[in-house]
Parts: sequence; C-alpha cells; structure tokens
Amino acid sequence: MSRIAYVNGAYLPLQYAAVHIEDRGYQFADGVYEVVAIRHGRLIDLEPHLDRLWRSMAELHMAAPMDRGAMKVVYREVMRRNRVKDALLYVQVTRGVAKRDHGFPAAALPGFVVTCRRFDFGTVAARAKTGIKAVSQPDIRWGRCDIKSTSLLPNVLAKQAAKDAGGFEAVLVDADGKVTEGSSTNIWMVTKDGRLVTRSLEDNILPGITRAAVREIAEGFQMPVEDRAFSLDEAYGAAELFLTSTTSGAMPVVMLDGKKIGDGTPGPVATRLMAAYMDFMDRA
Ligand code: PDD
Repeated sequence: MSRIAYVNGAYLPLQYAAVHIEDRGYQFADGVYEVVAIRHGRLIDLEPHLDRLWRSMAELHMAAPMDRGAMKVVYREVMRRNRVKDALLYVQVTRGVAKRDHGFPAAALPGFVVTCRRFDFGTVAARAKTGIKAVSQPDIRWGRCDIKSTSLLPNVLAKQAAKDAGGFEAVLVDADGKVTEGSSTNIWMVTKDGRLVTRSLEDNILPGITRAAVREIAEGFQMPVEDRAFSLDEAYGAAELFLTSTTSGAMPVVMLDGKKIGDGTPGPVATRLMAAYMDFMDRA
C-alpha cells in the first residue's frame, strides 16, 4: 500500500505529493512543524501539540492554514488513509509560496503538509533496556529555540557529529558550559542526592510535550523537578542522565563523551519514568 500525504488541500500518494519550488519553507526554512506520536490508533497529547503549533505560528506572525477542528480532521484522515496504529504524524506549516524576498509576502496562502509513517514503539522500549550513548556538541542555534521551526541546520549538524562519534544523540552545550537540550530531545539529570533536574523553559529551549508529560508523571511519584541549567561537568557526574522526546519517551543515556554515567547502565529513575510513559501512551 502506498503512503498517503495531505498536501495543500489534497490527499496524494507520497510519490506525487509535492510543493512549489518557491515555497518559503524550501527557500528560507520559513516554517514550523510538529511530530505527534500515534499509539494504538490514538494521537498522543494532541491538544498540547496543537497549542505548541499555534504558538509557533503566532510567534512568527504566520497565518494558520485552517482552524484547529479542521486540522484534527486532516490528521485523522491521514491516519485513516494510511491505516496506521503505531506511527508518527508529521505536520508542517510554511508561510507559503511567493516571489523570493526576505520580507513577508503581502498575500500568500500558508503551505500545509501532513504525513505519517509507521513506528515501532517496541524498538524504543528495547533501546531503553540498554540505554544510549550521547556526545556533547556546542549549541550554535539562535535565540528563539522555543519556536518549533523547520530551520534545523545546527541540530542536523550536531546530530550527525554525534552519529559520526558513535552516539545516538547530541547533547548541546551553550557558551557558559551549560547543557541546553539534545538535537531533537530535552535532557534531564538525576543528581547523586536524587534530585531530578532539567533546564528551564525560560532558557531558550523547546518546550517538549514529552518533557511536560514526564514531569507530571514524576510529580505523581513525589519526585519534584528542579528547572535549572546544569553544566556538562555536572552531567558527567550525575547519577543518571536521560532524554525525553516524542520518538524516544524517557530514554536513559548511559555514556556521554565516552564517560560512563553512573555505573553505565540505565538507572532506576529513568527506567521507572520510561515504563510509566509507555503505560501512559498505552492508556491514552
Ligand atoms: N523533536 N528539543 C528539540 C530541539 C526537539 O526538536 C524536540 C522534538 C524536543 C522534544 O519535544 P517533544 O517531546 O515535543 O517531542 C526537544 C521532534 C521529535 C523531531 O524533530 O523529530
């Protein structure tokens, strides 16, 4: 069965789904996006993902392609036509097609694309049993990382550098030596005295939807979360390190820059949070 995409008003087989070469998403990365998990045929945390998309568009003075209700219909229709149960939904909105000029076009219809692909959450759970290796990289991004923009070149370069060094994810570090987030994940640590720490949303990172869900789970376990920046050295010396994202849940990081975190195996806090997050997705 061929995959079906929604592109600017039409549902098309993926090989025919295309956008105009003067779409500003293509020329300027003038677009925003979301990745939403689908588990057992249900969209996980749909409303927070829509809230964040609307916020990203508003921050960039970008018009929405349709209202939220209509957008949900499109999401569900893409899921239905692709007959997916466990999958990732990709949503992208751009400022549309216009003659190339840096300033905003006077009148352009927003570009809107939705695709989905099957995704095996079993692989994620299996990966969490051994944990992943990460590699630090300088954070060379801009000052508005709170916006989920398609302008991802620094993230792409960091992720590739991590992969080249045998890692699964890049841990980004700012000019003060503090961890910001991953190339496509939020980063957390558990200190040796058992405190759960992750960088504040006020501090130029993406407000991860999984970050919020995992935080709620942790608080339900009477594990308060400290929102503060922590250094790369603190991360090396942490009892546990883990990352959160739609595609990774709460994933233990067992090695950073070739140094073992804790005893080099997934710790109890990350393991418990991952199990609870998988449970939350199962019950959503
Ligand atoms: N990435 N930080 C960055 C820079 C991200 O790109 C992402 C998500 C996250 C985690 O956010 P969430 O929990 O809402 O997935 C944090 C998506 C998955 C991606 O680009 O594929």
